[in-house]
This record gives sequence, structure tokens and C-alpha cells, in this order.
Amino acid sequence: MKILVTGAAGFIGHHLALKLLKRGDEVVGIDNLNDYYSVEIKHKNVATLSQYPKFRFIKEDITNRQAILDLFEAEKFDAVGHLAAMAGVRNAVLYPDFYVKVDYNGTQNLMDAARHNNVGNFVFASTSSVYGATDQIPFVETDACDRPLQPYSAAKRAAEMLGFTYSHLFGLNFTVTRFFTVYGPSSRPDMMAYLVADSITKGKEIPIYNNGEMWRDWTHVSDITDGLVLALDKPLGYEVINLGRGEPTKLKDFVEMLEEMAGGKATMVDTPKLKADVVKTWANIDKAQKLLNYNPSISVLEGVKEFWQWYKEEIMTQHK
Ligand SMILES: NC(=O)c1ccc[n+]([C@@H]2O[C@H](COP(=O)([O-])OP(=O)(O)OC[C@H]3O[C@@H](n4cnc5c(N)ncnc54)[C@H](O)[C@@H]3O)[C@@H](O)[C@H]2O)c1
Repeated sequence: MKILVTGAAGFIGHHLALKLLKRGDEVVGIDNLNDYYSVEIKHKNVATLSQYPKFRFIKEDITNRQAILDLFEAEKFDAVGHLAAMAGVRNAVLYPDFYVKVDYNGTQNLMDAARHNNVGNFVFASTSSVYGATDQIPFVETDACDRPLQPYSAAKRAAEMLGFTYSHLFGLNFTVTRFFTVYGPSSRPDMMAYLVADSITKGKEIPIYNNGEMWRDWTHVSDITDGLVLALDKPLGYEVINLGRGEPTKLKDFVEMLEEMAGGKATMVDTPKLKADVVKTWANIDKAQKLLNYNPSISVLEGVKEFWQWYKEEIMTQHK
């Protein structure tokens, strides 16, 4: 298959592209290489992918509508894994217009390009944060998700719904995959696991919200990309599918696991829970199991061990 991966220079996008290349797909990766976090990390991810002859990288912005339409016209993709986005719940509160522009309008550009060029399947990376402060726990796809707590989730939820419209009107196969707190090697530096590791090793102060009394359904990036590949291989009309582990871990326990492995303590400042944030995420993954045969296999303990190993080898050695 010839697959477009958007956000291919990013954390999850580059893991997805790598998995597809390893099984023999042709992958075109696009990314605007923005500086939300270190551009050096993104170049490194692209360099890893560029070792594969069936990979091509195009620096492009998904908000550049004409460029996106032209790209699809020229390339004729079989499927799209759309991961490019401004992520980050807290940053979204500061720049709502920007999040709507990239995460909603950018996504619409890709949908238009896909439907005009007969793309067989469109898999969209959405987020568990669309569930907001729901009282339906574990989070299940039948929840209305109509009370997003900040602009990132609102823009993602709006794009999910537009996907339904395009599927209904134009027959675009559109699968929404909602990821639950993804972690693993090459993690984004603004994510909790990375921040805790940085704090342990460099003594940096980091906020710990609600005194660590928060639960996240941490899901290893390898399980997420397995789910994405399964979704790319199976056009389903329109579906919304949770990709999580289905087993929330308390933030405090997650931090302690990392501290134990690292043999040190993080410097944490107790900070009240933000209005934009929820206390708990927890995925019901029955639908993913049923429709995609998705079966997350990496426990949090194993995953944290592997994350720490990566951090030690790749990040600590850089700063010596
Ligand atoms: N990491 C998580 O825990 C998590 C959870 C839920 C959903 N997601 C979703 O998964 C996807 C990937 O997230 P990630 O953690 O890998 O983040 P990331 O920031 O590492 O990757 C996103 C990539 O998209 C690129 N990008 C941003 N705006 C762009 C634009 N206008 N045009 C082209 N490229 C652009 C960025 O440069 C970046 O490389 C996102 O859609 C995110 O919303 C992530």
C-alpha cells in the first residue's frame, strides 16, 4: 500500500511510519517541523525513516490547502494516517485559534484532498480528552463527548464529526482512533514520563497536579501503532474507536515506578488540577478488540522500564 503519514516527524507519527515501512509499505511522510518542541528531535526521527528506500519526506503544512490538494492529486495514496496536529492540552488554552486552524481546518483540507482522490481509508488520530469530565467510566465510544474542556479537544471532536459528514456524503472511509496518554521511546519532551525523567536526572522542578491523585490510561506507543496499522488495513465506513490499554494507573504510582528504576527522586511541586484537565482517563477497549482485533500487550511496568532504558541511552548520554 502507498500510505501518507501526516506528522511523520513527530513522536507517534514516526513510530507508525517505521512500522509500515518495516512490513513493506510505501510511506510518504509530511510534517511542517514546527518548533513546539525541539526541531532536532524531529529531524532525527525523519533521518531514521529516511534509511528506508520506500520512504519519502515532504516538509509541508496541512493548513496550506492548495499544497495538500496538489500533493494528493500527484501521489494517489491508498490510505492516510493523519497524526499531524498541535497537541498539548495546556498549550491549547493559550492559543485556541491556532489549535482550531491546525487540528480542525488542517484536517478538513486532508479530508477534501482524500475524497477528491479516492483515498480508500482515512485514519484520524483523536484523543481521550474529547471525553471531558464525563461520568461514564471507563470511557466508551457511545458517550456524546459534547462538553470538551479546552480548545484542543473541541477542535479534535469537531474534526471527528466532520469525518462522519464526509463519510455520509462522499463515502470516505473514516476511522477515528482516540489515543489514551501515549508514552515510549522518542517521547515528546513535554509529556509526563519525559518530564519526570528530566526531573530525576537534572533536579528540574515539575508540577504534579492534584498531589498525584490523577489516573491516566498510559498506553505504550507500540500498542497504539499496532492499533493504527489494524485500522489502516480495515476500512470501516465511519467508526470511532478507543485505543488505550484499558487499565488506569495513578500518576503518583507512575512517578514512583520511574523513580525506582532511575534510583532517584523527582522534584515535584504540588499544583492544583487545571480547569482544562480531568482527574481520570480510562479506556473501554471492547470495540477496538471486536472490530480491529486490537490487543495491547505492554504493561505499564514493562513500558516504563523500556522508556527509562531509552532515556538513559539516548537522552542522558547526549547531555554528558
Ligand atoms: N501523545 C499522546 O499522548 C496523544 C494522545 C492523544 C492523541 N494524540 C494525537 O496523536 C497525534 C500525534 O501526537 P504526538 O504525541 O506524536 O505529537 P507530536 O507533536 O510529536 O507530533 C505531531 C507532529 O505534527 C506536526 N505538525 C503540527 N502542526 C502541523 C501542521 N500544521 N502541518 C504539518 N505538520 C504539523 C508536528 O511538527 C509534529 O511533528 C496528534 O494528532 C495528537 O493529537 C497524542
